[in-house]
Amino acid sequence: MSHIPEPTQDQFFHRPELANALADQALDTSLGTSGGMFLAAPRRTGKSTFVRQDLVPEFERRNLNVIYVDLWIDKTVNPAIHIANAIRTELAREDGAIAKTLKKLTHMSKLTVGAWGNGLSFDLSQLNLSKDATLADALKALSTASQKKLILVIDEAQHALTTDEGINALFSLKAARDSLNTDPGRYGMQLVATGSNRDKLATLVNGREQAFYGADMVEFPTLGKDYVQWLVGRSKLNLDIELATDVFQSLGSRPEPFRKALSQTRLQLAINPGQDSNALLASLAAKGIQDSKTDFLNTVASLPPLQSALLRELAADSLTGPDVRRLGLFSAAMKARLLARLEAEMGAGHGVSVETPSVQNALDKLREENYLWRSQRGSYAVEDEQFLEWLTNEDRDLSGI
Ligand SMILES: Nc1ncnc2c1ncn2[C@@H]1O[C@H](COP(=O)(O)OP(=O)(O)OP(=O)(O)O)[C@@H](O)[C@H]1O
Ligand SMILES: [Mg+2]
Repeated sequence: MSHIPEPTQDQFFHRPELANALADQALDTSLGTSGGMFLAAPRRTGKSTFVRQDLVPEFERRNLNVIYVDLWIDKTVNPAIHIANAIRTELAREDGAIAKTLKKLTHMSKLTVGAWGNGLSFDLSQLNLSKDATLADALKALSTASQKKLILVIDEAQHALTTDEGINALFSLKAARDSLNTDPGRYGMQLVATGSNRDKLATLVNGREQAFYGADMVEFPTLGKDYVQWLVGRSKLNLDIELATDVFQSLGSRPEPFRKALSQTRLQLAINPGQDSNALLASLAAKGIQDSKTDFLNTVASLPPLQSALLRELAADSLTGPDVRRLGLFSAAMKARLLARLEAEMGAGHGVSVETPSVQNALDKLREENYLWRSQRGSYAVEDEQFLEWLTNEDRDLSGI
């Protein structure tokens, strides 16, 4: 037991029923073991907070062995290393028990399911595992030692697709999961992952050869009216909850801009107490959105013409929905669209090349600047879904619809 006193007010709004329902779903094997569970929701809407504060504790309450990995904690570190480190940490915690268990296991070094690619070694020497142990060996040892089912929770899993090592790590996890779930006398393993962009996640679950093939994709419910009520209650502001909820939704159901609008409202009221708090909140939030949007569109407008045109075409395609086949970025049809756009914006003599090397170069730049995300396989997605809406709305505004 820790001796740190409980904070008087919990800084998080909890969703225990949702955690309970999702844990039930993730562990259900009535239809056979699934490929895992994927929680998808837009950026900054509270996925990680929910997973850390509600879902992982729920799994722990159910006496499962949970390993949590956040692949976005440090983008400069190879995602495979993050996964390895999380498992290593957990193994180190269980070391005593593992050492004991291993005395009873004789064939550890012969188990070779999955392997780390590209020279990434998983050094288990201090943990009494054989030197050439694989990730699957490590996970099996962990499960055997703890005598619990393993749940591996990978936050922002799509990030693993950006490097070969990350992709290999996901394959190893799949192999480990399959073997823990089918070998007799094992306790089983399940994968749960989150991600923030449908386009990116589709790559993970739709490819037959992908580690998460067949996983259930769940549209993770964003925070709603009960969260708004909780936060408004803490702010001590006298606000209409329905209106505040509308405001929260207009901010993409993102807590951060909403918190900012609430604190600005409180500040304005302190300076000038006679004002209507509801109207203040609505107008301050609207101004906040407008400012971010203008800021973003100004930055896009100052990009080189081909980059800006590509970003807009990609945004337009993303909004056609996940079932529509997209044009290849280097196809003749895409070149025609880019030319038409450049001509409309800059006139016939724009002189911008839309040949493959120029397009490739522009895509690389957009990725470096974090406008685009690119998987190792070469598919592209716009980094933040909010950008999509702004870019395509502007298109509509410009065409006068
Ligand atoms: N249940 C909650 N109660 C209070 N604050 C929350 C809650 N959920 C999210 N937040 C706040 O919202 C912000 C975004 O949350 P979080 O990082 O969990 O979102 P995310 O969807 O994982 O974001 P990203 O796309 O960057 O991974 C944080 O400032 C967090 O404190
Ligand atoms: Mg997150």
